[in-house]
Amino acid sequence: MDIGEFSPSGSSDAGADASEPIGAVAVAPGLQLSTEASETRLSAYISAGARDAVRLGQYLLIPYPEGDLLFTRVVAMEYAAEFDLDDATEIQTRRALANESFDERAYKLLLRMEPLGILSRSGDGYTRRASDRLPKPGAAVRVAADPAEIKSGLAIPAGGLFLGHVAVNGRVIETGRVPTPIDYRLRDVDTPGDPLIFRHLLIAGGTGAGKTHMAKNILRQLLAPERRYTMGDGRQLPPAVVQFDPQDEYAQMAHDNTAVDSDWQQRLERMGVAYGGVSDTLALVPRYGETTYAPSGHTAETLAFTIPFSLTRHRPYLIAGGDLNEQQYHALRSLLRRFFASAEAPTFTAFLAYLGAEETRATALDRDRIHEATYDAVVRRVRAVPREIFDQPAPSLPELDHRLVRPGGLTVIPTYHLADSRVRSIVVLAVSSFLIDSKLSTSPLSMRVKETPLIIGMDEAHNFLADADGAQAQQVIATFTEAAKQGRKERLGLFLITQDPQDIAPGIFKQVNTRCVLNLVDRAAIDRVNVPAALRWAVPYLGRGEMIVHSPDNSEAVQVTGLPVALTRHGR
Ligand SMILES: Nc1ncnc2c1ncn2[C@@H]1O[C@H](COP(=O)(O)OP(=O)(O)OP(=O)(O)O)[C@@H](O)[C@H]1O
Ligand SMILES: [Mg+2]
Repeated sequence: MDIGEFSPSGSSDAGADASEPIGAVAVAPGLQLSTEASETRLSAYISAGARDAVRLGQYLLIPYPEGDLLFTRVVAMEYAAEFDLDDATEIQTRRALANESFDERAYKLLLRMEPLGILSRSGDGYTRRASDRLPKPGAAVRVAADPAEIKSGLAIPAGGLFLGHVAVNGRVIETGRVPTPIDYRLRDVDTPGDPLIFRHLLIAGGTGAGKTHMAKNILRQLLAPERRYTMGDGRQLPPAVVQFDPQDEYAQMAHDNTAVDSDWQQRLERMGVAYGGVSDTLALVPRYGETTYAPSGHTAETLAFTIPFSLTRHRPYLIAGGDLNEQQYHALRSLLRRFFASAEAPTFTAFLAYLGAEETRATALDRDRIHEATYDAVVRRVRAVPREIFDQPAPSLPELDHRLVRPGGLTVIPTYHLADSRVRSIVVLAVSSFLIDSKLSTSPLSMRVKETPLIIGMDEAHNFLADADGAQAQQVIATFTEAAKQGRKERLGLFLITQDPQDIAPGIFKQVNTRCVLNLVDRAAIDRVNVPAALRWAVPYLGRGEMIVHSPDNSEAVQVTGLPVALTRHGR
């Protein structure tokens, strides 16, 4: 008997009778509900015929006499001796080795379950309450199979952004006469609460775990034509996506994936999943000296832009590099202030000349009381900043705000063509702080940015949002933390992708409400993503596209398998 853990769709063994009881609630090992999770004891004896099919992580139901259901998850299982027996002996072992058959009846199989809520019938579905009532000793235990039971039991919203299908140990649960997977969706309505995308989303996973595949599939849903978000003034607009792209993979979203054949198209339409190239895709390419950008795998429109040095006026961290200390940062800020107050052409070259002037040095030392060594250190640092990233012959970022942010449009900022990691940081920080400051300010640099629902996507986010001691890192963290806190109100969502979640500054990490955890093997990474214990053990064993979704304001933490197919082009 298959008890609710089914193969991916298309295989023939799906849909066996899951409504039969597989065991009964046992009292002998203790039957106890407690407000302290550690004291809760809920066990079932599993009958011999059903034992081979039970799995950790499976969802089981226990009916109450009047019809409500206790929804549970298997968290432990154990064989115990049926009779008083010591099989850890030489004689028993020889017997076992000589005899190939195993007598289930000589043992009992006990499952320990974690209660996840009580389901009461209401109309076609169920309402869910806290697990505050003990089931009866001997009550029949069966596998949760009906999609309504599982969705209600895990408190998964009926509608919202599609992330994937509910799974147990990597296998999508498919049930019903026509086997149907259960979709996992992220709440996307204004009431109650806010669309959860504006409380931020993180995709974490090891190299090759399928992060970018998953990210593109989620972004494709955000860019579905009917998607609208309500702004503070009541206007409803499609979101704009600005995606930083270190590997030159996201502009491919302009194109269909040829693997989505007519079969897939029908299935996706039935599931209510958006697919196909995003027609409004623009690659906005940072110009850096003579370096050229060669699009790979896409023919989306490209447009060059440059970062005006004037952006550093209020954002000294753009040119602070990694290791300016607090004092040096302070000095840089005051130098920039004086420079911008007097400069006729506020370019980087002019600033370097300004720093080199004896008069500047004298003023800094005498009037601003900057220590000589501090001054020299700052000048050294600033001279080392790659200069051909500012004020290049291309339209400047603030002038392009209408191209950068378009309701319903995807803007990709490729950085692959920039070999120097300092240059990449300047680009990502300049563009993201331009967006964030415009969102949060009451007199924004760009009204377009302020007034459009916006998702800022960042692949390899650990490279830009790492925790570090330097003044630059601290400023960046403060900026992003504030963005994350205000995101809900301003309709600004952070969409972070990383293989090293442990490197992301804790202040930012804490603000991320939805975590999609793909395969991770690194201990520190697993510790940081901090999924509930009942699911955590599976993290190193997750297959490609399989993840734990931990989104406390959306549902119980649950294992979800993303679509095996890329909804837009991914890969060459
Ligand atoms: N759910 C999936 N089903 C099938 N194939 C997948 C799935 N997810 C990803 N792949 C394939 O696996 C490979 C790696 O996927 P992807 O590029 O998304 O990984 P990644 O985690 O972003 O890797 P990297 O660490 O290199 O950025 C790609 O060839 C992709 O097509
Ligand atoms: Mg990737």
